[in-house]
Amino acid sequence: MAAHVLTVKELRKVFDTDQGQVLAVDGISFELSGDEFFTMLGPSGCGKTTTLRMVAGLETMTAGSIFFDGEDFSGFSSFQRNIGMVFQSYALFPHMTVFENIAYGLRVRGMAAAEVGGKVGRILGLLGLGDLAKRYPADLSGGQQQRVSIGRALVYDPGMLLLDEPLANLDAKLRVEMREEIRRIQKELGIMTIYVTHDQEEAMSISDRVAVFNLGRMMQAGPPHEVYSNPTSLFVADFIGKANFFPARITRSDNSGAKVALTSGAELALERLNALEPDEEAEIADGFDATVMVRPEHLVIGRAGGDGLSCRVRRIQFLGNIIRYHAECADASGEVIVDTTRLVGGLEEGSEAAIAMAPADSILYHKGRA
Ligand SMILES: Nc1ncnc2c1ncn2[C@@H]1O[C@H](COP(=O)(O)OP(=O)(O)OP(=O)(O)O)[C@@H](O)[C@H]1O
Ligand SMILES: [Mg+2]
Repeated sequence: MAAHVLTVKELRKVFDTDQGQVLAVDGISFELSGDEFFTMLGPSGCGKTTTLRMVAGLETMTAGSIFFDGEDFSGFSSFQRNIGMVFQSYALFPHMTVFENIAYGLRVRGMAAAEVGGKVGRILGLLGLGDLAKRYPADLSGGQQQRVSIGRALVYDPGMLLLDEPLANLDAKLRVEMREEIRRIQKELGIMTIYVTHDQEEAMSISDRVAVFNLGRMMQAGPPHEVYSNPTSLFVADFIGKANFFPARITRSDNSGAKVALTSGAELALERLNALEPDEEAEIADGFDATVMVRPEHLVIGRAGGDGLSCRVRRIQFLGNIIRYHAECADASGEVIVDTTRLVGGLEEGSEAAIAMAPADSILYHKGRA
């Protein structure tokens, strides 16, 4: 069988409310194929659920198109789209056993009893629920209930699996276990999956591709490491992982990079330049035309007098595998965070220090042409 392809183009959703119109989704486009695991990530209210519901056929589109294997989805009901959906609330039938909950989708499709038994059995095995088939939802843990709801979504061999914050109700440890489990099952079945979360670590760890949303728009989509290491906007830099920002004035630029001056007058030569999104230009402080972004693990902190920008260590935090230095630095907008794997000799809370950054690991976000 040829791999499935989902093509979403210029999807738009305007809700009419008593307070006027709400633009919930604003021109979203993406294409998925095969067993891709695609995650929509973004702050609350950015349009993730609305996008997912339009793909599922649970919400009408204001504009745009959705094609699955070349067929226009707009004429198909939610049922006809043959999509498996999992929500934050498990919504299991309380009066049905685990087996019956999972069998339900097959029964409404009119499948013969013998075949139902085989299909449900396979799903129970895949999800590690074999011993719990006769239990009722009230007698299951949260993680087990969520497994059942995943089983229910998968049992009728849907063409696509959509999950909306499926782990939000679970405790932190179980969330980590379950996300690995979801990815394992997803790859084992080879099913195209769209996952919604506002937990960036969850998104980064399970996805083949992450799409970062803000205010109804898709800001960037790509493999997790790419989105993390080359965010194309200040929003994505700030939203994914931790980021340090240094206001900068461009003093010279050409094809190979730019020279900038920071607040203290310190000069830097930078190789990686990204133009700001037009609506982000206003975020650059007055008197500056750019900002330098560096991840905490790409800064080097050392004793005062050494290479780099002057700063003062405010706090040293032991986070197990990393040591996080929080510092005040006149050149930065906000606190500077430096992550290291070793304690830096001679630095204590309150110490004067120096922070250095390498051009290859720093990105200059600038207004228009640098
Ligand atoms: N039925 C509705 N009527 C009016 N406005 C709505 C409706 N559903 C969603 N919205 C609005 O659309 C925007 C996007 O909502 P959506 O539920 O898609 O966000 P989300 O990214 O899923 O957020 P969260 O992370 O909180 O679940 C929000 O401003 C929301 O208030
Ligand atoms: Mg939502």
